[in-house]
Amino acid sequence: MQITLATQPFAALETEALVTYVFEDTDPIQGRIAEIDQATGGLLRKLAQSGEVTGKTLEFTLIHAPAGLKAARLFLVGAGKREPFNSATLRKISGAALRYLKSRGVHNFAFAVRENAAAEDAAQAIVEGAITADFETDKYKTDKKADKFVDSVSLAGFSAAEKSAGEKGLNKGRIIAEAQNFARDLVNEPSNKLTPRILAEKAEAMAREAGLAIDILDDRKITDLKMGALLSVAQGSIEPPRVIVVTYTPANTKPGSPVIGLVGKAVTFDTGGISIKPADGMEKMKYDMAGGATMLGVMRALAALKPNVKVICVVPATENMPGGRAQKPGDIQTAMSGKTIEVLNTDAEGRLILADAITYAKQLGVTHIVDAATLTGAIVVALANINVGVFGSADQSWTDKLLASAKAAGEKMWQMPMDEEYREFVKGSFADLQNIGSGKGGGSITGAWFIREFAGDTPWIHLDIAGTAWNDDPKPWLAKGPTGVSLRTLVHLVMSY
Ligand code: BES
Ligand code: ZN
Ligand code: ZN
Repeated sequence: MQITLATQPFAALETEALVTYVFEDTDPIQGRIAEIDQATGGLLRKLAQSGEVTGKTLEFTLIHAPAGLKAARLFLVGAGKREPFNSATLRKISGAALRYLKSRGVHNFAFAVRENAAAEDAAQAIVEGAITADFETDKYKTDKKADKFVDSVSLAGFSAAEKSAGEKGLNKGRIIAEAQNFARDLVNEPSNKLTPRILAEKAEAMAREAGLAIDILDDRKITDLKMGALLSVAQGSIEPPRVIVVTYTPANTKPGSPVIGLVGKAVTFDTGGISIKPADGMEKMKYDMAGGATMLGVMRALAALKPNVKVICVVPATENMPGGRAQKPGDIQTAMSGKTIEVLNTDAEGRLILADAITYAKQLGVTHIVDAATLTGAIVVALANINVGVFGSADQSWTDKLLASAKAAGEKMWQMPMDEEYREFVKGSFADLQNIGSGKGGGSITGAWFIREFAGDTPWIHLDIAGTAWNDDPKPWLAKGPTGVSLRTLVHLVMSY
């Protein structure tokens, strides 16, 4: 999809559809949109007066052959009230417009930004909205609708003076959204098409193309490193595990500078192991590698955006299978750190593989850690599919940075408590730790505390994306399936470091 900036007046834009947005609480024709109203001889005012256009959030009005415009269609999207309007709203509007027009066979459109929106972050949001909305999950369908595509979008409403800010936002938006779609593509792959080895190959191809350093640890290396927690999960499968390590090094690093560690859970299929999951809905467990996919996507974006800080990404990848060699409830494992773990439930495997990945990341020299994982069903109970669960260690300033980045990136995240009292839940009876609590509730916090035991004193944040990484119902701006959640926040976090 080609995306360019257009500086012509709205009425002069030759396009299949001119898209803009109207607010709910103010005179719908107020501001720059008056330009369109005048050119069309008061069409917008008539629509508003008749009550057909109210500006309610994502209300769609499509007008064919609008007199006075060069555009073949005029498409109005409701933006809701002017007050909470921000770049997150703009992202949704542009995404919803793309999906609406694409499904009707429109191949190109111009998106007219309004007053106060011809800026870098607005351009970035509109581009992110369009590119992420364009993503489809029909890769394995043989009867794809070949005529339904958008091949070019132009952003209109930028003056000559605003052009360079617009271009900057456009490029940034494209890099980030394409990285998000890269992650979503990985998440969408079924487990027979994405084993740990295939994930490692795909990561290698990405790193090579992006110019990032990559190291793949195979099962022998993993054994040499004594990653007993990861191996305990992997031993039930005939597919060997991998640890994918991708490194971004800025042009000039000073010794002693911070190094950010991004650790992502990649269980390419989670059956639960011997503590097997019910059959109903198990197919969804192909997305249990979304944390790892997100981190690989973040690295892909960083390679192009070139932050000033070194970043090391560690993705432990394995299947979690039952079988003759599978670990059994009650087994005691020794993690790479030397801590012993009583595995009371083999389905609480994400925290096991993250334990060793975090130990390894620390050995590589990371000074700050963020992990992302589809870790618990309990986070779905607590926050549904709306907010990512955020868990932090004692260094609240690191967590605050992440929460500020989430806000800026338009991703909903909510910090959960990490009181010391919860720590008791993971203290083991027969080993140092146990991998689940004893039925007292707080399942997501228990999982987070288990991981925190391995982060130790290193500032650490855990993102539980189990509820938010997969979209069960299609949204007007996003297809059903993988969301790529938390990628934009993490890119923002690293870029603002
Ligand atoms: N991958 C699951 C968590 C999950 C649940 C992800 C729902 C996406 C949607 C994880 O490995 C798991 O099975 N967790 C268990 C932990 C429990 C045994 C303490 C869970 O949440 O039930
Ligand atoms: Zn599990
Ligand atoms: Zn899992």
